Amino acid sequence: MRVLITGGAGFIGSHLAEAYLKEGHDVYIIDDLSTGTLENIKILQDNADYDNRLFVTIDTILNHNKLLELIGTVDVVFHLAAAVGVRYILDNPLESIKINIQGTDKILELCMKFKKKVLIASSSEVYGKHLHAPLVETDNIIYGPSSKFRWSYAASKLMDEFMALAYFRTKGLQVVVARLFNTVGPRQTGAYGMVIPRLVNQALKNEALTVHGDGGQTRTFTYVKDVVKAMIALMDNDSAFGEVFNIGGVGEISIRDLAEKIVKMTGSRSTISFIPYEEVFEKDFEDMQRRVPCIEKIKGLIGFSPQTDLDMILKEVIESFKK
Ligand SMILES: NC(=O)c1ccc[n+]([C@@H]2O[C@H](COP(=O)([O-])OP(=O)(O)OC[C@H]3O[C@@H](n4cnc5c(N)ncnc54)[C@H](O)[C@@H]3O)[C@@H](O)[C@H]2O)c1
Repeated sequence: MRVLITGGAGFIGSHLAEAYLKEGHDVYIIDDLSTGTLENIKILQDNADYDNRLFVTIDTILNHNKLLELIGTVDVVFHLAAAVGVRYILDNPLESIKINIQGTDKILELCMKFKKKVLIASSSEVYGKHLHAPLVETDNIIYGPSSKFRWSYAASKLMDEFMALAYFRTKGLQVVVARLFNTVGPRQTGAYGMVIPRLVNQALKNEALTVHGDGGQTRTFTYVKDVVKAMIALMDNDSAFGEVFNIGGVGEISIRDLAEKIVKMTGSRSTISFIPYEEVFEKDFEDMQRRVPCIEKIKGLIGFSPQTDLDMILKEVIESFKK
């Protein structure tokens, strides 16, 4: 099978590429390296077993002709390319909205043209500022005003979901939406606000771990290889098309407790420093206090249950940063 991964030089995309290459498939990647790196896929490009099976295009998904050629070539498409990370969105508000909305529009249009199956990577951010847990796919959505640009990421991903579902309903496109919760593992960078790589990096340098707010906000963390497995299983299951699925972890932990755990596991001399949100992001920044997925729906369809707990994930991330 030939698989196209947009954003394939990114964190999740590179693991997805690896999983398909390992299974003997051909992988096509398109990535503009805005937040991804060639370093992420070097290990794949250097692997002789994958010779003539990995094809990398450095370009933007907004290049219609390139996308036309690639989607025309492959059998299935995983659309992961997006402007990601709160820091990146706040620094590049207009470009981010364009990539997330126009990019997905192009992908869906061409998948329809060539009748290719497609998975759209959405985000738990879509739920907005709920306080309850767990979050169910059918929950209402609560955002702040449009003057607060942090919500533009959530709103653009929500619009991607609407477009995907509309293609399914009106034209029968085989499209599935994966709402990813915090996904972690090796190759993730802390540069755009992702919490685990940022804290691990600080701990290994014996610098203060910077926790935003009072650290009482909670998250669950899912190992990237568990997420990749779930994405592949969704693509392989025809009953998934036209549906939205949470993909996320189970152990809820506050960021304060996470920071303490990282200090302990790295044997660091670091202290923990609490930084007001407005110093890190912008005045009146609104965070999601809890972000815990209900995973009953995906469990029911493909038997998904995360296999890798937080300690195992942290161990691997710490080792990868040491290297
Ligand atoms: N990591 C998470 O916790 C998480 C959570 C929710 C949703 N997601 C979604 O998963 C997907 C992958 O995220 P990730 O964590 O691997 O981030 P990432 O930044 O590592 O990957 C995104 C990739 O897309 C590429 N890209 C961005 N704009 C592009 C463009 N115009 N043309 C071509 N390539 C472009 C980037 O260079 C990068 O390689 C994204 O759609 C993201 O919204 C991730």
